[in-house]
Amino acid sequence: MSKNWRPATTLVHGGTLRSPYGETSEAIFLTQGFVYESSEAAEARFKGENDGYIYARYGSPTNDMFEKRMCMMEGAEDARAMASGMAAVAAAVLCQVKAGDHIVAARALFGSCRYVVETLAPRYGVECTLVDGRDLANWEAAIRPNTKVMFLESPTNPTLEVIDVAGVAKLADQIGAKLIVDNVFATPLFQKPLELGAHVVVYSATKHIDGQGRCLGGVVLSSKEWIDENLHDYFRHTGPAMSPFNAWTLLKGVETLPLRVKQQTASAAAIADFLAEQGAVSKVIYPGRKDHPQADIIAKQMTGGSTLVCFELKGGKEAAFKLQNALEIIKISNNLGDAKSLITHPATTTHKNLTDEARAELGISGGTVRLSCGIEDTQDLIEDFEKAFKGI
Ligand SMILES: Cc1ncc(COP(=O)(O)O)c(C=O)c1O
Repeated sequence: MSKNWRPATTLVHGGTLRSPYGETSEAIFLTQGFVYESSEAAEARFKGENDGYIYARYGSPTNDMFEKRMCMMEGAEDARAMASGMAAVAAAVLCQVKAGDHIVAARALFGSCRYVVETLAPRYGVECTLVDGRDLANWEAAIRPNTKVMFLESPTNPTLEVIDVAGVAKLADQIGAKLIVDNVFATPLFQKPLELGAHVVVYSATKHIDGQGRCLGGVVLSSKEWIDENLHDYFRHTGPAMSPFNAWTLLKGVETLPLRVKQQTASAAAIADFLAEQGAVSKVIYPGRKDHPQADIIAKQMTGGSTLVCFELKGGKEAAFKLQNALEIIKISNNLGDAKSLITHPATTTHKNLTDEARAELGISGGTVRLSCGIEDTQDLIEDFEKAFKGI
């Protein structure tokens, strides 16, 4: 397989294994176990003397194809496919900490990710400090001699804040900590955290990688050394493996990732500009716009805008609900990255478990709305908004 393939080629052909039947489309190996030619062969496999499969919780051919394709795309040496994005995040964090260690994480994290570092890890004796990740000085001030993990997502959910990945990675290196980046919002097309110095990348493959709202999945990518030393045993013995059926679905999904993300991003950029002109809108946050608060960092670390747009309505929650209810094509749903355009009101859905104070810190108000653009015709989406704005 060529390492020089561009993303669109890698995502169609990368990692493909063919059975003796020579099938064009990737095969699904729905099997729990594998048989051995002899007792000696079984013994050798368990000793690690050959590379064959042992049990689907450890690895299997369809999952292998998905992991290899994602590694080629990300520039990673190794990966593990998991049952969901949260299985991937929990594994990436928990596999490398022990009681007495410390985590520094950006406070602007997806709610379940924040639960893992803020609530779950401390139960096992791992302390966590949450920081406003936009300022590198906050990361530096939070670091302790026992800091083992640093964790961020960028752009963030839902306010599309951007964090300087290379800057945080440099701080992690100074103390031998590992930086995990949740790259869901950027997609592997627009941001390469490993090239920026991060040590581990995680995805909810449920989002753009599937891209058609069908199945859950997640993936953790890193160096072979990090996976061998940290994730390998955790993964085998705690059982977050992805179903081979989902690995197959995601292999098919990822083939069209560049086409979908290109259309979604073009629509998001056009809709962001349209929203900025509306009298009912007080703020638009879009990583492709010059007025994004961290436009300089975006220029440094991202090669594209975003498929998501965050905006705020002057009329608060009432206006947000009315606008969402008046849309016809754009559906109300907390998911994102789908072929269908989806809109959500974070304060009452994805971020409802935060205190009012924590929501205010993240810039989420009653009027904040998050749009995930699908692959529909851009003009139809704009007209859907035009009609809905007339109603409010
Ligand atoms: C930024 C981010 N990380 C992680 C997840 C978790 O992914 P999953 O729902 O596949 O478990 C999500 C969404 O749900 C997300 O938006």
